Amino acid sequence: MTAPLLSLDRISLSYGEIDVLRDVSLDVMPGEFVSILGPSGAGKSTIFKLLTGAVAARSGEIRFAGRPLAPTDRPFAFMPQRDALMPWRRIIDNTTLGLEVQGLRRKQAHQRVRPLFEEFGLAGFEQHYPHALSGGMRQRAALLRTVVQDRPVLLIDEPFGALDALTRNQMQIWLEAMWLKHRWTIILITHDVREAVMLSDRIHLLSPRPARVEQTIAVPLPRPRFSHPTARAEAATIETSILDFLLSPQIQEQQGQLP
Ligand SMILES: Nc1ncnc2c1ncn2[C@@H]1O[C@H](COP(=O)(O)OP(=O)(O)OP(=O)(O)O)[C@@H](O)[C@H]1O
Ligand SMILES: [Mg+2]
Repeated sequence: MTAPLLSLDRISLSYGEIDVLRDVSLDVMPGEFVSILGPSGAGKSTIFKLLTGAVAARSGEIRFAGRPLAPTDRPFAFMPQRDALMPWRRIIDNTTLGLEVQGLRRKQAHQRVRPLFEEFGLAGFEQHYPHALSGGMRQRAALLRTVVQDRPVLLIDEPFGALDALTRNQMQIWLEAMWLKHRWTIILITHDVREAVMLSDRIHLLSPRPARVEQTIAVPLPRPRFSHPTARAEAATIETSILDFLLSPQIQEQQGQLP
């Protein structure tokens, strides 16, 4: 059996008095598309902050490729939940930001990103500013910036949360196609159950804060799922069982209050 590429082992973390993660354990296999699904405020983005070194755990261990993750290890490329693009930089210069941080000269960085513009549906928009792009295009630009850093694992936090339903669906179809082609290892944060089911190999389902992994759900559906004759119907069944769980009295009680 293949060993996990990444494991979180009984991670606990608090912000001062606020307990955010309590004994969170999860793993990600090489080339796997994993989602972290949970209610708002559960601690999902905090898991990415932890992985990227922005916050530290109180206890527990992170292992990458079988070894404890050292503070200097940078195996993650991160697409943040908000404000991914800088409005004052052209799209091409937004997509090279991560490479420039890695120390690449702007000219070399441009050479690296240019061939990807076509595949990301952004050809011809290299010199535009973010405000001149549609919401979907902006999110693809942010994703391009993440992918081009060529790290072993992509961390993407609610990439389609601000998009209208139709664009969101188009982006999910596109992301699945890109993943099938490139086989990146992806961790997607979402609170959209359908999105998690349609895209993931496995879903780690978090409880309300302090977050634990309540369940890990395998989604062994054929791909590409959006165009598969039976995958969508089977996905709907899995979606219903997850929603039933999230809306169960046990979870609602932990949530404490209605949104
Ligand atoms: N820097 C911080 N200082 C103090 N508390 C914080 C900080 N960042 C987050 N929190 C708190 O930690 C909890 C988890 O936040 P987090 O952003 O991880 O949630 P989330 O699951 O990503 O939520 P959402 O789905 O709304 O994005 C929240 O209660 C939040 O208020
Ligand atoms: Mg968040």
